[in-house]
Amino acid sequence: MEVVRISQEQIDTGSIGSLACEALEAGNIVVLPDHALFDQQADIDFLLGLKQNASSLHKNVAYKPAAHKVTGATTHSPGDAERLLDVMSRFSKRALSLLALVCPPYAQKWKTDYASYRPFEEHGRDLPLKQRNDLMHVDAFPSRPTHGGGILRLFTQINPSKDRVWRVSGPFESLADKYAMNAGLRDVKGGSAALKRAAAKVGRAVGLKVPDRTAYDQFMLGFHDYLKGNEEFQHTREAREYNFHPNQVWMCYTDVLAHSVLSGQYALEQTVIIPPEAKVRPEIAPVSVLERMAGFPLTPARKRQLQSA
Ligand code: SIN
Ligand code: FE
Repeated sequence: MEVVRISQEQIDTGSIGSLACEALEAGNIVVLPDHALFDQQADIDFLLGLKQNASSLHKNVAYKPAAHKVTGATTHSPGDAERLLDVMSRFSKRALSLLALVCPPYAQKWKTDYASYRPFEEHGRDLPLKQRNDLMHVDAFPSRPTHGGGILRLFTQINPSKDRVWRVSGPFESLADKYAMNAGLRDVKGGSAALKRAAAKVGRAVGLKVPDRTAYDQFMLGFHDYLKGNEEFQHTREAREYNFHPNQVWMCYTDVLAHSVLSGQYALEQTVIIPPEAKVRPEIAPVSVLERMAGFPLTPARKRQLQSA
């Protein structure tokens, strides 16, 4: 894993091309050391103050751009709720604009996912195994399958004084080589995995809210849990720690780069889903790596592409 630093000048002069995309796709972290995502200190102060006022925030505060809605923050006065929505929606817009500038090849091609505010101290958080952020993993969303798309996330932190500390390892290909078969890659084609997909389809047809998971999504969700529970991987010597400083912006594909967060408080994040065909190097996308190993396509769309090729 490398850390690729991008200067404001590279962004301003539009000279970045596919440099950041290539670095991200290969499992590296792109850092913008001197980029201020918030232009008003009052917004930062509001977010920092929120934690003290609200005792029952959920795991994170989520902002859902498509619905223009905040969830996970329950105990605000109507005024605070309105302000939070406004602050989160402006953060999301600025983060998306920045993503488009840093990754020009992806602009217009992504699916905008949620933004989040992470107001809790990560060190020593008491969460169930699957939700623990301090165990290394690659990301997969239970309720929002990507159908082979990559999970690209832009982070920043508004903590005025403390670093956010990650442990990272990867890239995906070496993880997959080592663990994908044991984690059940071959099993997602048929058997109970296929039955689950068929049952989910029936459920959706009768109006139930069942996620539309492809074999890829089923595997990635299982891989997330498998890695968190794998002692050998959790103690791998290949992992290294990395500190993000206050007010830095950083990005990575969290389904390519294995990561965990050891400590830190008050981060924000915006996620976009990048279809494999929009990537600069689609052949190293997790879905391509896994398909080569499995020997069969992992999504219906890729099966159709293969048949028509
Ligand atoms: C994660 O995606 O596992 C957590 C990253 C963070 O909140 O810093
Ligand atoms: Fe994660």
